Amino acid sequence: MTVATAPIPQANPGAGYRARREEIDAAVARALASGWYILGQEGRAFESEFAAWLGTTHAVGCGNGTDALALTLRGLGIGPGCAVATVSHTAVATVAAIEMAGAVPVLIDIDPRHYTMDPAELAAVLDAPPPGLPPIRAVIPVHLYGQAADLDAILPVCARHGVAVIEDCAQAHGATLDGRKLGTFAAAACFSLYPTKNLGALGDGGIIATSDEHLAGRLSALRQYGWKQHYISDEVGVNSRLDELQAAILRVKLTHLDEGNARRQDIATAYDDAAGARAPSRRAGASHVFHQYVLRVADRPAAQAHFRAAGIGTGIHYPVPVHAQPAYRGRVALGPARCAATERAAAEVLSLPMYPELTDAEVARVCAALRELV
Ligand SMILES: Cc1ncc(COP(=O)(O)O)c(C=O)c1O
Repeated sequence: MTVATAPIPQANPGAGYRARREEIDAAVARALASGWYILGQEGRAFESEFAAWLGTTHAVGCGNGTDALALTLRGLGIGPGCAVATVSHTAVATVAAIEMAGAVPVLIDIDPRHYTMDPAELAAVLDAPPPGLPPIRAVIPVHLYGQAADLDAILPVCARHGVAVIEDCAQAHGATLDGRKLGTFAAAACFSLYPTKNLGALGDGGIIATSDEHLAGRLSALRQYGWKQHYISDEVGVNSRLDELQAAILRVKLTHLDEGNARRQDIATAYDDAAGARAPSRRAGASHVFHQYVLRVADRPAAQAHFRAAGIGTGIHYPVPVHAQPAYRGRVALGPARCAATERAAAEVLSLPMYPELTDAEVARVCAALRELV
């Protein structure tokens, strides 16, 4: 069918570039003119500006968010002979990173209201791990869609068991819990800087935040062949570096992140009004930065068709839980709930357009289509 007005994509990283084109082009020109393209002053400046913005003492750039998680596990000494608990309702990257580090994933179900790790099931798994599993040495809560996992419950359980916590902040740049920024609660926090993220590069990128100086030093070495000194590998590392062009772009984008998050929150408030009882749950004490605005719909194909007919793109995050994907099916350990809530969510979640550059008129169009649906 023909749509009278321009289509509204679900995500639009190009709009993020166009909105800051002059500043970004100038930053790119500066990085190009410097003659230094990997691990130079743009990268160092971005790391210190990001750490200052977040409230940690260190931040270490790397190639992408998946590497950030794998490097952090390795940096904490977690690898072969260890298990790591996370969720199945996440980007496959979280689980892939655990296996990249050589550890075994164990997948915990979600609290279906907030789509984040169910702390009660985590406690049950730590008390009585599934048979045949190596010891669980770390837990990776994912702050999915831009909202905090239940750290108030998860952190004490992990502390009781002496298990490290790594926050997966890939979707939660700037979100808070109890007035404190996510990414400052645990041993380390891993951020993806993929173009569609709340803080997105124009290519791949990742960054690890920590206030542990020793860990930061290890991560800086591990991301580059285990070098502390050039060309001398003290241990086996990898090549996962944030390049200078992306760092220069990210320095610009970081200065607009809080404003972008506030705009996302305003859009979410408008969507909430149209969604009524279907509006996503907000965790008490948390501020949600709406990386995604996610509805639940019983008949998802019909809902997608409804939005499509109005020229509105939708997304599904994520259609198949990690444990049910062909590469993982039957091979990853699950908690006692067998990820039942995860499977129900995967069948029903639907993400609406969400990025700061949506115009008020576009938001109104999405709201009108949403009102017709609910
Ligand atoms: C929750 C979560 N964790 C990890 C990642 C991995 O990030 P990247 O795509 O930068 O490797 C992503 C992004 O896709 C993500 O959404």
